[in-house]
Amino acid sequence: MTTTIALVTGANKGIGLETARQLGARGATVLAGARDEERGEEAERALQAAGADARFVPLDVTDPGSIQRAADWIDREYGRLDILVNNAGIARGNLPSETDLDAMREVYEVNVFGVIRVTNALLPLLRRAPAARIVNVSSEVGSITSMTDPSSPLAHMPGSVAYPSSKSALNMITAMYAKELRNTPIKVNAANPGYTKTDLNRNSGFRSVAEGAEASVYLATLPADGPSGILWGHLWSADGSADAYGVLPW
Ligand SMILES: NC(=O)c1ccc[n+]([C@@H]2O[C@H](COP(=O)([O-])OP(=O)(O)OC[C@H]3O[C@@H](n4cnc5c(N)ncnc54)[C@H](OP(=O)(O)O)[C@@H]3O)[C@@H](O)[C@H]2O)c1
Repeated sequence: MTTTIALVTGANKGIGLETARQLGARGATVLAGARDEERGEEAERALQAAGADARFVPLDVTDPGSIQRAADWIDREYGRLDILVNNAGIARGNLPSETDLDAMREVYEVNVFGVIRVTNALLPLLRRAPAARIVNVSSEVGSITSMTDPSSPLAHMPGSVAYPSSKSALNMITAMYAKELRNTPIKVNAANPGYTKTDLNRNSGFRSVAEGAEASVYLATLPADGPSGILWGHLWSADGSADAYGVLPW
């Protein structure tokens, strides 16, 4: 039996580290992408201590050289990639009228352009896998429908431009990659972790990282008849259960 090779970007902490742990627990070889060597090596040790076959890969999603070196290394070591989880992300927030364009560019460099850079560099390796899965870690705050539905809990969040719009862009990017790849075995989907307790929100989220990672792991391990081009994960609605999962509206 061949081993599944999975790369998770931003895997040194938060939802990414937990996604790598869960994929490792399912028997995948997990390549833990991290931009900082010390944090990456620490994550590798933590994942190995949890029983995973894990290796740290230096990877800054804003740096084309770093991405190419990671792709070349994966090519040399494994010759293919079965799972890519584009998890690395950052958040900055201001009211729309106070948007700082430099901060917004920073967010887009990671959450939007970073995903395209990494995906395109790794697509040749993903195409070599029998049935690759690409998971873009998005958010319900990128769902224009949810954010503007007066009955959604999300409608009560203060307005902000940089982060939510970066995830709306990522949703469309997901749909367009799924479209380009629809005649291949590769599936491309967006995951909604839900509001998860991590450094991204100063640990204010009400879900655990274990719950937050579930959507990514589910989409990363979809069977051949699974969907492509959807936003899937925790559903947070005024009338529904906070533990419900499903397809979210764009
Ligand atoms: N937490 C939530 O409630 C929530 C909800 C919906 C979606 N999400 C999404 O979930 C994903 C993971 O977020 P999280 O909550 O786990 O946040 P987190 O704990 O802050 O982790 C973010 C990860 O991304 C990495 N990263 C940032 N910039 C990077 C770059 N240029 N290159 C490579 N890695 C980079 C960070 O590395 P460093 O340690 O080096 O900074 C860290 O490993 C993000 O895409 C986020 O938007 C989170």
